[in-house]
Amino acid sequence: HDAEGLAAFEQIIAQDSRVEPRDWMPAGYRKTLLRQISQHAHSEIIGMQPEANWITRAPSLKRKAILIAKVQDEAGHGLYLYSAAETLGQNRDRMMDDLLAGKARYSSIFNYPARTWADMGAIGWLVDGAAICNQVPLCRASYGPYGRAMVRICKEESFHQRQGFEILLELSNGTPAQKQMAQDAVNRWYAPALMMFGPPDDESPNSKQSMAWNIKRFSNDELRRRFLGMMVEQAKVLGLTLPDENIRYNEAEGHWEHGPLDWDEFAEVLAGRGPCNAQRMERRREAHENGAWVREAAAAYAAKRAAKEHA
Ligand code: ACO
Repeated sequence: HDAEGLAAFEQIIAQDSRVEPRDWMPAGYRKTLLRQISQHAHSEIIGMQPEANWITRAPSLKRKAILIAKVQDEAGHGLYLYSAAETLGQNRDRMMDDLLAGKARYSSIFNYPARTWADMGAIGWLVDGAAICNQVPLCRASYGPYGRAMVRICKEESFHQRQGFEILLELSNGTPAQKQMAQDAVNRWYAPALMMFGPPDDESPNSKQSMAWNIKRFSNDELRRRFLGMMVEQAKVLGLTLPDENIRYNEAEGHWEHGPLDWDEFAEVLAGRGPCNAQRMERRREAHENGAWVREAAAAYAAKRAAKEHA
């Protein structure tokens, strides 16, 4: 039976078609998807924190409304992704327990502080920009529920990126102090945003297999370079500079290049020792505890309805 399943699975991959939850799939494929999708879901949920931090301090009612909508979208993304992960047979409570126990990864980027209002611009422009660059190809991921979730997520992410760009554009055209604040935020988020794409290709243990399974479509370095090229052009429109003197277009290779990144810092952040890791986890645990009554009420309501249906 497994041999038949494997042949069918291999055919789906060879035809660049889609694997659906009821299809047979190799244990490694299921495991890799569960890992990536749950990490992605956790990133969306933890990623609400740096920006939620600015909702009460947004400089106008309009900005506040936009920021609330954006943070809410991120909660939605987390929920679609947990649902996609559940189709692989993992229980959502278990994923949440792993996150709260510090056993699950989430994106390195959300362990950096959002110090000024301009950080809302830099996060939208650079962080959401990097997220889109990484996620558009995931719309074609071979696992159906993941690819379909990514379509809507990417549409919302592009709105997020535009709103960040617009915040920076306005600051950049504002007073010298506002422009400096925008530049300072870009200076702080640039390198961490490039590192979001993951370790360099020769140190990325999962890439090769994930690409063979049509989960990832491009390598970490390819996507990082593509993102850089986009940002170089957009920075000109913003009137801001990317804090890297080594950015250049390599004609021979046909791609963009950046200066060295601090991979030791990346390793520290992944090990839980980044600037805000402890705070992010603490807030997440608090929020989980504070939400206990909602989960209990929802469960009680569901049980009541089920009992009525059976009566
Ligand atoms: N932050 C935290 N961990 C990371 C990061 C990062 N930026 N990049 C890589 N890692 C981890 C990987 O999860 C993997 O850990 P694990 O093996 O313990 O699970 C390890 O570093 C090695 O990396 P890779 O072999 O390159 O891992 P992978 O093939 O999964 O590629 C990538 C990493 C590109 C992040 C991929 O998982 C992906 O595309 N995920 C979906 C997108 C996503 O999660 N985005 C979240 C941020 S965007 C947002 O939420 C707005």
